Amino acid sequence: MSDDVKPSAAIKEHRPSEVIYQVYPASFADSDGDGHGDIRGITAKLDYIKSLNVDAVWVSPFYLSPPGPEGDGGYAVTDHKAIDPRFGTLDDFKELLKEAHGRGLRIYTDFVLPHTAGDHEWFEKSRRREEPFKDYYVWHDGSIYNGHKAPPNNWKSVFGGEAWTFDPVRRQYYLHHFLKSQPALNLNNEKVQEAVVDEMKFWLDMGVDGFRIDSLPYANHDPEFRHNPWMFGQWPDVREAWDQQFFEYSICQPQTVKLVARIRKLMDGYDRKKTTLGEAIAGKEGGKNALPVASTYVHRHEGLDTCYSDVSYGIAQSSGQGYLKDLIKRIEDHFPDGGHCNSLGNHDNPRTMTRVAGHLPQDQREAAYRQIAMLFLCLPGSLCVYQGEELGLPQARIPEDIPLDRLQDPVAQTIGIDRCRDGARTPMPWRAGAKNSGFTRADKAYLPVPHEHDARAVDRQESDPRSTLRFMREALAWRAAQPALLKGHTVVLDTKDPVLAFLRRCEGQVVLCAFNLSPHAVTFTPSEALDDDLLRAAGLQKGQALSLDGYGFISSGDKKPVPVAAPLPNLGGAPKPAPG
Ligand code: GLC
Repeated sequence: MSDDVKPSAAIKEHRPSEVIYQVYPASFADSDGDGHGDIRGITAKLDYIKSLNVDAVWVSPFYLSPPGPEGDGGYAVTDHKAIDPRFGTLDDFKELLKEAHGRGLRIYTDFVLPHTAGDHEWFEKSRRREEPFKDYYVWHDGSIYNGHKAPPNNWKSVFGGEAWTFDPVRRQYYLHHFLKSQPALNLNNEKVQEAVVDEMKFWLDMGVDGFRIDSLPYANHDPEFRHNPWMFGQWPDVREAWDQQFFEYSICQPQTVKLVARIRKLMDGYDRKKTTLGEAIAGKEGGKNALPVASTYVHRHEGLDTCYSDVSYGIAQSSGQGYLKDLIKRIEDHFPDGGHCNSLGNHDNPRTMTRVAGHLPQDQREAAYRQIAMLFLCLPGSLCVYQGEELGLPQARIPEDIPLDRLQDPVAQTIGIDRCRDGARTPMPWRAGAKNSGFTRADKAYLPVPHEHDARAVDRQESDPRSTLRFMREALAWRAAQPALLKGHTVVLDTKDPVLAFLRRCEGQVVLCAFNLSPHAVTFTPSEALDDDLLRAAGLQKGQALSLDGYGFISSGDKKPVPVAAPLPNLGGAPKPAPG
């Protein structure tokens, strides 16, 4: 490794279980009245973020990026060292850092590792074969198919179509795993690794506390450009979509583990502990089953602190007890030292409220949502909470809430409106009844605020002790006070459906977490699934039956239980004995 980073003198504290609040800057808070969220808007809301009892803030990209769909919501970066004027200036960002640090919050910026925007200086020079940029991207002459010029192989783009586009300037194909405007960097090339490490240093030297690293499985590719095997049939007979391939060669390559180790070494060169949160939501099987891939990136000494995979998005109320039991065991097996990140929503997926409870009768949704939130809080690993999930916002509907001509996400055009991510990216509702629910003083916000969100605005929820916001705030404080939830191992209990129960266990504490996955009240006798020692350690007695309300959650063995803001579900306090 040739980077000039000081070798780490001491292994820094590993952070496998922190709570990270994700801000999507365009829709968080607008300070200057142009209808678009900005960095100063985030700074103005730091007290609110701090009050949620989170440890850190992940800020989605605010770098210079092409306007419109080509910019992919900031994930096509034109200059990784410059701030897009729509979001503010470098001074605004330095102020955000200072104010966040003053409140004990860490700031993680989003680092878009595997690609740049097509109008990036490196790409402009690479397509003109200028050194040293000539091999900064993945170029190929292509192949001949049926007598015609064709892409080099069968690799597909996540956003639809081929992963290759012919560039008329260089007269070669370039690789892009997402949009055509997002050419893939050639991270197999040592010089490119050095260049991205240098960009990371720019932010770290400024005082940024770490990164959320975008699309990690896409960082490296097979240098021999072999075809991916199709799940069904043979290429070229089948010309199917992205998710019909085994990603043997296009992504999920073992070199990325070494790249991650290099990034970790860079981080460990700093005195102030830096944190890394990876995104690995694509596995080898048509993008599914990313958990094993994500686990290869996390390592106590040589890898990331934490990484999220696709599994959190698979969790729904209808997942069923068997699915969840198996999932928890898989997380524990793949991440024996912790570090799996559980995501309570993000900017790429439908809002959790709609995903887990949208199909339920209205009067059951809140309890079901809170239960899933509690499950995420109790699972081993770290936790990302996406802006608005603390309010229980439902997914904005297209076209009822967002008319078609207001859509921003390129995916609406490339793979279709039903995959459009704007429904999870509408502005934060701060003040009920105010213009644009207090997000902006402009007449028109970046995306419309759904009418239904206004009733769930922050100010309204602050004044209601039974609100989702008050519940989430207390739940996060409760989690922070349970060492077993932060660093314990997990033992899934052999309970009968619809009860899901597991222990989180560390030296000095055993916490029992039990969930009733049905809408009807049930009783549950932990001693039927626990030996006497563990039962006692969890503060329970033999034969003691616990009552769980419909979609209820119950815990025992907690330290410093917090009083519950809302009576549903039973959080933290002493377990409710079963009647009779
Ligand atoms: C990541 C981002 C997503 C973006 C994609 C391509 O998955 O979370 O928003 O579209 O990378 O950069």
